[in-house]
Amino acid sequence: MNVGSNGIPARELPLSARAPGKCIVFGEHAVVHGAPELVFAIDLSTQVFVKKSETNRLNADSEGTRRNDYFRSALELAWKDHSPVDVRAISRIPKAAGLGSSAAFVASLAAVLSSASGGIDRPRLAQQSFEIERAAQGVGSPGDTSTAVAGGFVAINGGSGELLWSIRAPERQWDVRRVSDPGWVWVVAYSGIPRSTAEAVRAVGARLGAPGGPELLEEFRRVAKHGIDALGRGDRSSVAELLKKNQELLREVGVSHPRLEALLEAAAPASEGAKLTGAGAGGSVVALPVPGKEAELVRRLARAGGLPFVVRPVPDGASLVEG
Ligand code: MEV
Repeated sequence: MNVGSNGIPARELPLSARAPGKCIVFGEHAVVHGAPELVFAIDLSTQVFVKKSETNRLNADSEGTRRNDYFRSALELAWKDHSPVDVRAISRIPKAAGLGSSAAFVASLAAVLSSASGGIDRPRLAQQSFEIERAAQGVGSPGDTSTAVAGGFVAINGGSGELLWSIRAPERQWDVRRVSDPGWVWVVAYSGIPRSTAEAVRAVGARLGAPGGPELLEEFRRVAKHGIDALGRGDRSSVAELLKKNQELLREVGVSHPRLEALLEAAAPASEGAKLTGAGAGGSVVALPVPGKEAELVRRLARAGGLPFVVRPVPDGASLVEG
């Protein structure tokens, strides 16, 4: 297959690949319903090591295909050979924290299986990773998987940058565009409360389908659109204000949590703007620090019981680790 200049080339097992986690700046949940979203790839990643085996195994567990829906659907959708494989996954991304651990696992595993199936170009890897995640979760948008495949900053259904690819599902299509990195430092803090993306997505879907829902969705759309434009022109104070507005909307659709609100309150004196990031109902917050107060912000979030990280956007998406 012609995989293009930045696709995943054909190789034979054993193979390894790595993909980054993600941080959603604007538009989570609303993106599932077609609104814009802004996401960047973070410098925490998952690496998978895959070799031939006598039975399918994930991290030494021969029940892996039964216990892990992502593993099972990756084998079904990305592995042409269907012979058994042993997969070991090592991740620095906290699980169920809103930071894209499942998308990074799916994209890195799909990259290996597609490489061993003859290679794949990046748009197809993005479509395939979305389909694997969607088959495992039952719901969702391609924001997380496309970011794990593209790296850098991406806008879904927004912005005016280069069109990387379009992702298709039976009910709609999402356009994925490149956004340039303004070079800011971001701080993320995990609340320590794991949550289920699928449950949160279904609950928000019900809220947006109830009276007043379409107006709320329109507000989500407006905030994310302005947010993408503001970040694109490096307008930090507008981005900060829009982060706060986006948090109000997320609170209104019921996916904030007392622990997240406590972290946002603790962050306020050292951050220009902050919000939950990911599915919410637990998970993590993202904050844009007041310049010069990055260390104070980290201290405040840690004192309030969060697990803070300074995250740097990384330009590279899923790739084979060769040599
Ligand atoms: C989860 O990281 C982001 C959500 O918008 C779900 C999705 O887009 O698939 C909540």
